[in-house]
Amino acid sequence: MLSWDDYEEAPSNDQAVIAEAATQKVAAEDQAALETRVEAKIESAVEIAAPQYTAPPVAQAPAAPAVAAPVVEAPVAATPAAPVAEVSTESAERVTVDQKAMINCRADLNQLVPFKYEWAWQKYLDGCANHWMPQEVNMTADIALWKSDEGLSDDERTIIKRSLGFFSTADSLVANNLVLAIYRLITNPECRQYLLRQAFEEAIHTHAYQYCIESLGMDEGEIFNMYHEVPSVATKASWAIKYTKEINEPGFTTGTLETDKALLKNLIAYYCVLEGIFFYCGFTQILSMGRRNKMTGTSEQFQYILRDESMHVNFGIDVINQIKLENPQLWDQEMQESARNMILEGTTHEVAYARDTMPRGVLGMNANMMEEYLQFIANRRLAQIGLAEQFPGVKNPFPWMSEIMDLKKEKNFFETRVTDYQTGGALTWD
Ligand SMILES: [Fe+2]
Ligand SMILES: [Fe+2]
Repeated sequence: MLSWDDYEEAPSNDQAVIAEAATQKVAAEDQAALETRVEAKIESAVEIAAPQYTAPPVAQAPAAPAVAAPVVEAPVAATPAAPVAEVSTESAERVTVDQKAMINCRADLNQLVPFKYEWAWQKYLDGCANHWMPQEVNMTADIALWKSDEGLSDDERTIIKRSLGFFSTADSLVANNLVLAIYRLITNPECRQYLLRQAFEEAIHTHAYQYCIESLGMDEGEIFNMYHEVPSVATKASWAIKYTKEINEPGFTTGTLETDKALLKNLIAYYCVLEGIFFYCGFTQILSMGRRNKMTGTSEQFQYILRDESMHVNFGIDVINQIKLENPQLWDQEMQESARNMILEGTTHEVAYARDTMPRGVLGMNANMMEEYLQFIANRRLAQIGLAEQFPGVKNPFPWMSEIMDLKKEKNFFETRVTDYQTGGALTWD
């Protein structure tokens, strides 16, 4: 099909063609105006979602050495990406693997196959195979323990409330970033298929936190509004939101060195830092509680969420590395410094959260051990995107966390599954 851009370049004096071009131009302008209005609405939605809390200054990440960034002319497409494929009956051209690309791709995005990134499709299948729902987990023991005056210390109660407070809104931030910001800019159908699966998993996670909060009879306003009210929680939320806002500006699209880098930074912010570092203190605390036979239902919910999250992180890292591979001009010294500093900044915020939630030793751990664990995680995130580790010699003080991430669903589910619940695969139609 002849695109508008091709048409502009096609010399012709044919009046009928000129009239047709004028019609297409008006339609394109109407579409552009519509998109601007929609984007303005999205922007205002993000504005509303942004916490009002202004983060206090935090310890600076180690200063980056001054490196003169080489001037790179971005070899990008002259036309912007087409996140919504045009449909035409005039073109019989079929999509080939060579036409597919992670960003700025103009191939038909409605055709899932042929696959270019088999790993993305495999992760989609793996995500579906791990499907679970919060109601499958028995919360009876947690309710009895939470309502009893004994069995939980004040410090343990603080950890439970802070974890539910942070995660109950953090997963919404991730879901909104996926759906409102990332999805339209990733121009590959098999990756979009995984993003849709991930978006649903984030909804399940928010559901799981809501289910715990409701089961335990907590003050819902206190928990859900914690990302406005508690500085160590608000700092993490507002750090992430600024990256959503950056690529949600009205009219933002990829296709230049600057905007492609903005998308890459968003992916690093969400996959490497928010899901890859900000989740780890809370996960470790709650799972440590479960290992001590306390709040076992809440802990089981967190186990399934952690397993999903580790797949989200692995998918995001594969996407980041694929974008680097296809667009090496983006991964210049300036971008590498930015990525390194984002991961170090995120680690600093998460260590501050650990100190705030663990003023003294609790559950066989303390803030210093958590700091070493977070540095160990940060080293992995840096290495996963091709950067040098920044915390030499740190060890993993919680090796049991890795075992939990590989948990097989059946291990616990046969003991706790609610009998009248059926997954889609178990339904019969007669
Ligand atoms: Fe999640
Ligand atoms: Fe996630």
